[in-house]
Amino acid sequence: MSNGLSSKPSTNLVDFDTPSKESHINHLRKSLHSVAKSIDFSDENYSRQSSLDCIIVNQKKKKDLFFTVNEIKISDLFDWKDYKNQSQNRNIPQSGTVVTCNNHKIALFRMGYEVFAIDESCPHQGGPLHVGDIETLGEAHILCVICPWHKWRIELKTGKVKLPRGRDKRNEVYPTRVLKDGSIQVGFSAISDKFFKIDDSIDF
Ligand code: FES
Repeated sequence: MSNGLSSKPSTNLVDFDTPSKESHINHLRKSLHSVAKSIDFSDENYSRQSSLDCIIVNQKKKKDLFFTVNEIKISDLFDWKDYKNQSQNRNIPQSGTVVTCNNHKIALFRMGYEVFAIDESCPHQGGPLHVGDIETLGEAHILCVICPWHKWRIELKTGKVKLPRGRDKRNEVYPTRVLKDGSIQVGFSAISDKFFKIDDSIDF
């Protein structure tokens, strides 16, 4: 008597038994695990009343998936607001700091309790922005990083190129949070798809 179910295995089922597929699945599992550890899914640590927290960039595109920056706290960053005192401190190099967060290379710049996050690579020819100097431009005191390669000025708040004028280029900028324990978080609109890239060397 037929019960309507076929005993023939479906060809759509994934075969988990071969070593290559197993290693691919392990790779994805590790990626998911490390992503889950990095993302802050709760607002428990974050209080808008705290003097240490900040969201500094006015984002048109929503970037509210916050990843914690590993191994670095705000006290490890050179404070450009306290330039004179900080320059005496030989333990902290006078520069921004480059970190990898959500698979993006990001330059962080501290101004007091605010941390600015901007893509590390200059929109001109890819110069390393984290080693650039900081200056304020014009009467509006627009806070800019100066690219060390050809001296373009890029606004830290918006990522727009301010000098030379008329360049229709910009860097991606990200909102940040500083938690009470000094940890820094950077906001993204999505989890980087590089976490889930299939290793081409795996032969299916
Ligand atoms: S690479 Fe930054 S100004 Fe040219």
